[in-house]
Amino acid sequence: MNQITIPRPDDWHLHLRDGAMLNAVAPQTARHFARAIIMPNLVPPVVTGADAAAYRDRILAALPQDTAFEPLMVLYLTEQTDPEDVARAHATGLVRAVKLYPAGATTNSSSGVRDFDKVRPVLEKMAEIGLPLCVHGEVTSAEVDIFDREARFIETVLDPIRRSIPGLRVIMEHITTKDGVDYVMAQGDDMAGTLTTHHLIINRNHLLVGGIKPHYYCLPVAKRESHRRALVEAATSGNPHFFLGTDSAPHPDHAKESACGCAGCFTAPHTMQLLAHVFEAEGALGTLSKFASENGPAFYKLPVNDTTLTLEKTDTPARWPEKIDCADGPVTLFDPGFPVYWHVKD
Ligand code: NCD
Ligand code: ZN
Repeated sequence: MNQITIPRPDDWHLHLRDGAMLNAVAPQTARHFARAIIMPNLVPPVVTGADAAAYRDRILAALPQDTAFEPLMVLYLTEQTDPEDVARAHATGLVRAVKLYPAGATTNSSSGVRDFDKVRPVLEKMAEIGLPLCVHGEVTSAEVDIFDREARFIETVLDPIRRSIPGLRVIMEHITTKDGVDYVMAQGDDMAGTLTTHHLIINRNHLLVGGIKPHYYCLPVAKRESHRRALVEAATSGNPHFFLGTDSAPHPDHAKESACGCAGCFTAPHTMQLLAHVFEAEGALGTLSKFASENGPAFYKLPVNDTTLTLEKTDTPARWPEKIDCADGPVTLFDPGFPVYWHVKD
C-alpha cells in the first residue's frame, strides 16, 4: 500500500503556548489536523471559562485566514476551581475537558492539585454533566523514582479517583508504560488513553546512550523498550480505548539545550508522516484511521471529520526543516533517527 486516505486527524493533547511561540506553532498543527485539545499550562494557567475564551481568540488570531482548525479548550484544574464556572463553560461548548496536573509534575504545573479532596466537588460536577477529565498521570513525591511515577500514579491516584467518582470520564494522557496500557484496557468505555508520536519511537536509551539528547527529553520520560513495544501494540491495535495525543510541546532551543533543560518534544509538523511509518512497520496501516481520526471523536462524543488527509509513500525520503523559526528562538523538530518515506499530499 503506497497511499492511504483517512478522515482528517485530530490531536487530543497539544501545547500551543502563547505569544510568539503560538504564532510560530499553531499553523503547523492546522496544516494537517482539524481539531486539537489545547493544553492549558500557560503562565498563568487557563483556569476559568473567561481565560479559555480569551485564549481561544488568541489561537484563532494566530492561524492563517483560510484555516478551518478548531481549538478544543481545556481548563486547568486548581484547588480553587469553581464547579459552576466549569459547568457554564461546558454548557456553551467552549470547554471540552478539564486537566488534572499533580502539583509539580511537569512544565508550569505549580498551580496543580495537592489535595484531591479539595477538587472533589468539581470532579463530581464533571461526572454529572459528562465533561471528561484529562490526567497527567505521574506522582510527584521526591522519593518515587522518575521511571516509576506513572505506575505509582495509577495505583495511588487514578484508581482511587475512578472508584470514588463513578461516571467520571477519564483520559490518561501520554501513556508511557505497559502498566498504563493494561490499566486502560481493563476499564470500561468511560476511560481512554492517549499515546504520543515520540513515545512510539524512542525508548530511554535514545535519550541517554552516547550522550544526553535534550530533544528526546519529555515528561513522562521515555521508558524501557518493552514499554515502548506495549505502546506500539496498543496504538496499532485499533482498540477504541487508545488514540493520538501528540503532546507536541515546543520550547526554544536555548531552553532545552541547557544545564536544566525543559521537557517536551516538538512533533506537530511531521507527526502524521512519522505515524504512517510506525504503523506500516507493524503491518497496521489499516488502523491508522482508528488511532488518529476515529477513536478520539468517539470518546469525546464529537463527529469524525468530514474532510480527509492523504499520505503517500515514495522512494524519496521526506524532508522537514531541522528547526522552525520563532521570535523566542529556533525550535527543533523531533528527529525519529530513521528515514521516513511518507509524505502528506496537500
Ligand atoms: C509539556 C510542556 O512542555 O508543556 N512537556 C512535556 O514534556 N510533555 C508538559 C506536559 O505535558 O507534561
Ligand atoms: Zn503535554
